[in-house]
Amino acid sequence: MHTTILKGNLIHTPTPDHFVCIEQGYLVAEGNKICGIYRELPQKYHSCPVMDYGDALIIPGLCDMHVHAPQFVYRGLGLDLQLMDWLDRYAFPTEARFADPEYARIYYEAFADAMAKNGTTRAVIFGTLHVPATELLMEILEKKKICAYAGKINMDTLSPDFLCETPQQSLADTERWILDTKDRFRYVHPAITPRFIPTCSSEVLEGLGELAEKYHLPIHSHISEDLGEMEVVRGRYPEYDNDGDVYDSFHLLTGQTVMAHFIYPTDHELQLIRERGVTIAHCPQSNGNVAAGIPPIRRMLDLGIKVGLGSDIAGGFSLCIFRAMAEAVYLSKLNWLQSGKKEAFLTVPEAFYLGTMGGGQFFGKVGCFEPGYELDALVIDDRSLGTPADRLTLEERIERVIHLADDRNIIGRFVCGEKA
Ligand code: GUN
Ligand code: FE
Repeated sequence: MHTTILKGNLIHTPTPDHFVCIEQGYLVAEGNKICGIYRELPQKYHSCPVMDYGDALIIPGLCDMHVHAPQFVYRGLGLDLQLMDWLDRYAFPTEARFADPEYARIYYEAFADAMAKNGTTRAVIFGTLHVPATELLMEILEKKKICAYAGKINMDTLSPDFLCETPQQSLADTERWILDTKDRFRYVHPAITPRFIPTCSSEVLEGLGELAEKYHLPIHSHISEDLGEMEVVRGRYPEYDNDGDVYDSFHLLTGQTVMAHFIYPTDHELQLIRERGVTIAHCPQSNGNVAAGIPPIRRMLDLGIKVGLGSDIAGGFSLCIFRAMAEAVYLSKLNWLQSGKKEAFLTVPEAFYLGTMGGGQFFGKVGCFEPGYELDALVIDDRSLGTPADRLTLEERIERVIHLADDRNIIGRFVCGEKA
């Protein structure tokens, strides 16, 4: 087993309450597993090569818990609409073009390159309903060493003719795709991905719950994102007053489920999500852009609900999870004001925790530098963000990175124990 030793200023958040910083420390991994972090290199490693990154910062890899790969095409466009109109005008026509694998290849290559450049080592990704394009996406992610759950999505109702399946075709294609891909890759695996309740019939939701159980697969979708969306769901399922109970009735809420948004949860729905062990992907930039709303993240954390961060490209325009961290704090402050200063806003270490550990736990022991965790790490050169005269502490340097850094500051990337 090969030993990897990184030297630099190590920063991580094993718990959300504060940064743990080790100045000029050693991060040691054997194979893909971290053995420990040390101020002095233990004797037994003295003959091993050390990758010395000088005064750079070394942090865990970033986790993007909700992103639409095909929407990378139109990121930064069309953000003056509300969700349901935005889907009709931008998302659906763009996604339809992924019927053409050659078109898909161009954009999925660009998407995966951008993810890697932005320091995203783990991601949960929507494809389109097309099986060939989704398999291509998975191949490209594997090649570029991005650990991901990716999904052929399902949409068989309330969808435009040019982007709609029959229920039979939707389920048959999904099972064929699962069988094709579940054991094919090292870094990439399939996730059951109903687009959201409005575009999936009961027949499809039920069949997807069965497929998830049959093949032990994770599940990825949207929940309680938008008042327009929720109105459609209430109309179709008048027996339930929330999205969570609808998903649960089809066995789609499990400890391996990630649901994006959760902006308007009922008290009962919060309890349900916690009991089922679902992870919520908080996508602050998207929530503002498509005018969806402000989710009660503090309340979720206080209840013990698992929360990670997502870019939600192209609801969000930036793939950078540092921006999601900064905007999670920002949006939580608006929520603090809106709640009459009752729901405390997030701290910077908490936001960093959400973007590393919060998402990382969905992939196993991922997201910090504690012994036994998988080695995912980024090397950050923050010299362009200030001047040496600033004399910042490591806590201040990482805070500035979260607010000001971009892909140009990321100079090294390790995924599952390997330099990528
Ligand atoms: N709900 C259903 N589809 C989408 C989508 O593409 N983006 C977002 N943000 N919400 C959705
Ligand atoms: Fe989304």
